Amino acid sequence: MQNTELTMEEPRDAEAVREFFDQWSVYCRIVDNDYLYHNSVRESFADWLNRFGRPFSFLDLGCGDARFSSGLLRGSTITSYTGIDISPVALGLAEQNTRDLGVPCSLQCGDFVMNLPALPGSYDIIYIGLSLHHLRRQEKEYFFGELHGKLAPGGSLIVFDPVLTPGETREAYMGRWVDHAELTWKALTSEEIEGAVAHVTTSDFPEEVSTLNRMAVKAEFHPCRILFEDRTDFYALMEFRA
Ligand SMILES: C[S@@+](CC[C@H](N)C(=O)[O-])C[C@H]1O[C@@H](n2cnc3c(N)ncnc32)[C@H](O)[C@@H]1O
Repeated sequence: MQNTELTMEEPRDAEAVREFFDQWSVYCRIVDNDYLYHNSVRESFADWLNRFGRPFSFLDLGCGDARFSSGLLRGSTITSYTGIDISPVALGLAEQNTRDLGVPCSLQCGDFVMNLPALPGSYDIIYIGLSLHHLRRQEKEYFFGELHGKLAPGGSLIVFDPVLTPGETREAYMGRWVDHAELTWKALTSEEIEGAVAHVTTSDFPEEVSTLNRMAVKAEFHPCRILFEDRTDFYALMEFRA
């Protein structure tokens, strides 16, 4: 069953997303406590990068403070780094975190859906970490086409995102996600959990892997290879080859 409530698309509230991520310290604590499985994702992504087999340019969409990506990329065969994020607060930190990558770095503040078409050239690796799900379904559909157009020959799109289990509705996903966060996110105050829950339940629109595959194949990607799935079935790291 698909999450049919999304067929009548409401416009995305980019401003609400920016406001949430401007309180960067709460998100940082969520990541530091590995509540979103960044440690395992980093391990699987690093294994994949080691096998990529050639120097690469890297485009990081929704880069946030670039702490995850810069940790992953330090010491790799990266040739250039480009990050885009809608939060100026996060980008200020990204500037510091990408300083020692030792390659040309460019950071852009804005909506990646709007900014992507104007980027010059193409990229060997495009990464979207925990931000594709902020787009509504039709926007995601359009976006896969744009992403394909920005990949260099032999390049890959890597997506780390929440995913619905087969047949799951958005409502059911949100129900079990809220229960899980309220039960296990002990490092956050109840007000901070309330804020995260409000953000996720209003701004997150996860899809099934099969739905992402349908969009990707329509945009001439191969169906994805799953590089990592967390044990609670909330998130997946996926590789889509161009
Ligand atoms: C959950 S954080 C992920 C940060 C980082 N990629 C990571 O994995 O830790 C999502 C980031 O995407 C950004 N974001 C969400 N929608 C965006 C959009 N349409 N354009 C640019 N940035 C966006 C937010 O500001 C935030 O920094």
